[in-house]
Amino acid sequence: MHIKSYGCQMNKLDTALVRSALLDAGFALTESVDDADIVLLNTCSVREHAEQRVLSHLGHLKHIKESRSDLVVGVIGCMAQRLGGKLLEDKTVDIVCGPAQIPQITELAIKALQQKQKCLAITQKIREKSEIQSQALEGFESAYSSPAFGREIRKSKFENRNFGVGQAYIRVMRGCDKFCSYCIVPYVRGPEVSRPPEAIIEQIKKLADAGVKQVTLLGQRVNAYKYKNGDKTYCLADLLELASKVDGIEWIRFVTSYPTEDFFDEILRAMADLPKVCNYLHLPAQSGSDKILRAMNRHYTAGQYLELIDRARSFVPDIVIAGDFIVGFPGETEEDFRATVDLVKKARYKNCFIFKYSPRPTTIADKRLQDNVPTDIKKRRNIELLSVQEHISDELSRGFLGKEVKVLVEGLSKKPYKDSQECEDAPQLTGRMATDWIVVFNGPQLLAGQCVKVKITKTSPFTLFGKLSK
Ligand code: 5AD
Ligand code: SF4
Repeated sequence: MHIKSYGCQMNKLDTALVRSALLDAGFALTESVDDADIVLLNTCSVREHAEQRVLSHLGHLKHIKESRSDLVVGVIGCMAQRLGGKLLEDKTVDIVCGPAQIPQITELAIKALQQKQKCLAITQKIREKSEIQSQALEGFESAYSSPAFGREIRKSKFENRNFGVGQAYIRVMRGCDKFCSYCIVPYVRGPEVSRPPEAIIEQIKKLADAGVKQVTLLGQRVNAYKYKNGDKTYCLADLLELASKVDGIEWIRFVTSYPTEDFFDEILRAMADLPKVCNYLHLPAQSGSDKILRAMNRHYTAGQYLELIDRARSFVPDIVIAGDFIVGFPGETEEDFRATVDLVKKARYKNCFIFKYSPRPTTIADKRLQDNVPTDIKKRRNIELLSVQEHISDELSRGFLGKEVKVLVEGLSKKPYKDSQECEDAPQLTGRMATDWIVVFNGPQLLAGQCVKVKITKTSPFTLFGKLSK
């Protein structure tokens, strides 16, 4: 089997789950499509561009299938749920499996391979809560600590280095109920469901036993995590406290937070009090204009957002904040965009993910608003916002010059950085600080998965370079 993952961390986690289920069922991983009998694409629908990449990959697979008609191709994830049976109209596609159906993946793969049957498994009424579906997903999720998964972690076979030695994702919530007007997620991932705290902590313990040092708790709106168990209602701060008690785990992160009051102070207090909880907050603002925020159906103003950031900094003075922005949302004027630039300057993010608005079918914005900001203006605003952020990131990164920082080593750096030439005979490694800063340095590969000290000798806006401390 060969699996390719597109999109967010949720998808990377789903890919890891699917991979470990298929490995447990006796399938073997292949590096290349050429040696695989089944190819699975775990897809993303959040922007049109993400879907186009999948469609072009399918075009490539179509050519391969012309000479190898027995090759099974499966589309799983958000695009499968969004497009359903339409995807099967393409002769190339044999399996369509939505995010809620991944527990059936082994069964679907065997059916397609042995019985040459096309398989469609998606949720018909995506916004209805289904206890049966939740239980199936919960059962499947525990495969995350299966023997195959443990072996995978030790061998660090994951294509994504964020999932390499020492680091793992844990889902704490599924779905989203926020219905931001531009966003497809509530329509492909269904309603919000928080997972039981004991199941989450059990997984963290098993991952720690397999050598994981850092866990990232995942939820589309992770600060809204809420699980009622008897008289007690657990919130994210409770989870952070429980996870902190797991031996072997050094760092705990959580993404993504929604900028409203949901347990905000409790979470910040946990961050301030619990040394293992990383001082890092991913808090997408999306826009700095109140008019656009209203049209986006975000439930805060730019002023309220900045107050949250001030509060975060008063609880945790060295907190590092990252943001997301969409430029060119319908109706965004130059004045609205200036308000966004202003917000970025005030927030002083470590980094920002900036996206050009992409209309998504079924969303409220697509149904009611015209995509009326021309592409060249979207591009210009994107470039300008990036450059404002780059300037801030550059200033912040310079603050690390000469300092010694703690880094969790991820492994060999994917691309060689010219800037790091401290010790050229040792391989170039990358890792991250607790606050998510990327650090590049030379050192032995066996450090992957370990925490080390690095003295910073050079900086660039988004990367720090340094020398391994003895
Ligand atoms: N167009 C552009 N960006 C989008 N995002 C979500 N939906 C869209 C869309 N339709 C961005 C948001 C979100 C991130 C994951 O993707 O900024 O925080
Ligand atoms: Fe999408 Fe908004 Fe939910 Fe985030 S909070 S997943 S942007 S609907």
